[in-house]
Amino acid sequence: MKNLFIILTLLLFTSSVYAEEFLLSTPRTSLLLTGEKDGQLYLHYFGRRVLDPSDIWNSGNGMLYREAYPQFGLDCTLEPAMAVMYPDGNLSLDLRFQKAENIKGNHSDEWKFYLKDAVYPLEVTLHYRIYHDEDIIENWAGYQYSGKGFVELRQFASAYMPLPPGQYTMQHLHGSWASEHQMEEEILTHGSKILVNRDGVRNALTDHPSVMLGRNGLEENTGDVYAGILAWSGNYKINCTLDNSHRLHLIAGIDNFQSEYKLSKGETFVTPAWVMSYSNKGKGEISRTFHRWARKYALAHGEQKRDILLNSWEGLYFNVNMKDVCRMINDFSGLGGEIFVLDDGWFGKKYSRDSDRSSLGDWEVSPGKLPDGLQALIDSCKCASIRFGIWIEPEMTNTISELYEQHPDWVISQPNRPLKKGRGGNQLVLDLSNPKVQDFIFGVVDKLMTQYPEIAYIKWDANMSLANYGSNYLPANKQSHLYIEYHRGLRKVLQRIRAKYPDLLMQACASGGGRISYGILPYFDEFWTSDDTDAIERIYMQWGASQFYPAIAMGSHVSAARNHQTNKLIPLKFRFDVAMSGRLGMEMQPKDFTPDEYKFAAQAISTYKQIRPVVQLGDLYRLISPYAQKNISSLMYVTPDKEEAVLFVYQLKHRFNPSFPILTLQGLSPDASYEICEINTADLKEQAGKTITGGFLMDQGIEVWLDKEYDSKIYHLKKTK
Ligand code: GLA
Repeated sequence: MKNLFIILTLLLFTSSVYAEEFLLSTPRTSLLLTGEKDGQLYLHYFGRRVLDPSDIWNSGNGMLYREAYPQFGLDCTLEPAMAVMYPDGNLSLDLRFQKAENIKGNHSDEWKFYLKDAVYPLEVTLHYRIYHDEDIIENWAGYQYSGKGFVELRQFASAYMPLPPGQYTMQHLHGSWASEHQMEEEILTHGSKILVNRDGVRNALTDHPSVMLGRNGLEENTGDVYAGILAWSGNYKINCTLDNSHRLHLIAGIDNFQSEYKLSKGETFVTPAWVMSYSNKGKGEISRTFHRWARKYALAHGEQKRDILLNSWEGLYFNVNMKDVCRMINDFSGLGGEIFVLDDGWFGKKYSRDSDRSSLGDWEVSPGKLPDGLQALIDSCKCASIRFGIWIEPEMTNTISELYEQHPDWVISQPNRPLKKGRGGNQLVLDLSNPKVQDFIFGVVDKLMTQYPEIAYIKWDANMSLANYGSNYLPANKQSHLYIEYHRGLRKVLQRIRAKYPDLLMQACASGGGRISYGILPYFDEFWTSDDTDAIERIYMQWGASQFYPAIAMGSHVSAARNHQTNKLIPLKFRFDVAMSGRLGMEMQPKDFTPDEYKFAAQAISTYKQIRPVVQLGDLYRLISPYAQKNISSLMYVTPDKEEAVLFVYQLKHRFNPSFPILTLQGLSPDASYEICEINTADLKEQAGKTITGGFLMDQGIEVWLDKEYDSKIYHLKKTK
């Protein structure tokens, strides 16, 4: 170990004599690289911001370093970010630094580091986008080959990040249908921990492509945390290897399994970005950074308040009919709702969509179910002063459909093998690598929007994984491109939709929360968090999703009293109090409300309208985690100017003689006074506010009494002076 240190120090000394230094800084973080022409490009440091690299050198922090983009070939022992096979069979890479370029922008600077193989005609550009106002760095790579034939890309990560020695705790999100975004935490031991997703279509249904790494502990408000998320919607691999010196090496990118990519002359292969951040103030600050960044720079209409919606799924399922839909529209409008979304079950001319066994692909109204067509529903929404939205699942088809009858070659399938089918026993995935399929999918949206320009919202679903791996479109020697080309095709379609319909609101759904992904963030306004609408389950799932995703993007719906997924009977107030901490909506039959419940729901919707800007555009402070097993959970949102805040407290489980922790709030202005007032009370009575200073609320806290199963409270705080 000591020898290694001396060697590294000597290497550093010799390299730093000739090498150029590149210090890349966000408001509170810095990244340090050095490069010498025709030598190596090294990455030395990622952490607290420094004004000058001398702090990094003098403290020894930059001593343990490695190539900024490790390649297989010269150093063969550690996991590489990149590996190739050249046409002559050579498996080695030797990328040498050429030059760096800094392109300044309004909100960010893009640094490009040009590398090229010492012998073969392959150029690699490493990109780092450094934001001026948020502690976010995007890191990705681009490859260009100018030789004969093609170079086969065998490993093509977006980013490599060496982290300083320590004991690392990894937190990641794991889940399955109806139980998405569950937080899991473990201390990393030596060796590699690999997060991987091979669903092919929905890359958040099992493990999310994101990770938080705490150095010497992982806390909400203290300590070093390194976090990253891959902006890609397809298969991915995140490899964290702890070496003998207790340093952690993170390599993240598209999964290379069965995805060797043949790169020919003239083509550029660009990896997705690894979006990363560092904080020395724990996970909370990291999440707020990602939320703000996502709202400002990634999510569609990220700074625009969202409508309160009613989705027809749990209220009607496939039983779509004019009478019930119109009743829902009117009841919801009476409650103060703003947008109605017609879910599955409205389409299919030859084969009516009466169950999940048929019709995907036939996106024309089912005349048997809606004889007056969609326009009649849109008109009925107009009369009720609400907007109209609709569900589609355009990447899929069923074997019982006109689409499949006409284009059996458009599905992902293997020649000479029986088809493995998905949902309903008949579902198949369309081959998005095929430009004709891309045109068709764009056309699904384009036709709907042309025929019914008043459609304001589309729920875009995807309920099957990529089975039957094989493309009828890609040539035999490029079959291994399918996992990648599927998502490139999807992105092309979504870009076309966004270019033509910039104001359209879109929700990404995939068997519930299977596509909560930064890969499609720019094209969607929000995600359907989960098909599980049980309010208790949602507290856990929304807590998990909030690690990276802002509340404005989290569809959070009040559903029936006897929950359809868990059979639990949960009071209406509790269901509303949980849904109101995200983008509030409903997923039920409002006609099933008793008159008192109807009155309460109308009041809750009106209350949400008052707090909506705070929840949807404010900063999140997580106070008590449901995972902490304290029987309660609490979170709050604070407006950026600290004028207003909303506090949510939930009882997860009732125990006798509970000890209620005093809630110490966060994010307020210490010297200001706040009027704090309970809202959304069960008896609808207005409560008198009390005035307390921000400093007292944050240091001493307030007592919140919860006295029975499913008790919950919401408080609204307003600055008085
Ligand atoms: C998926 C979605 C649900 C609903 C159904 C319709 O399961 O997650 O919200 O849209 O499909 O079939």
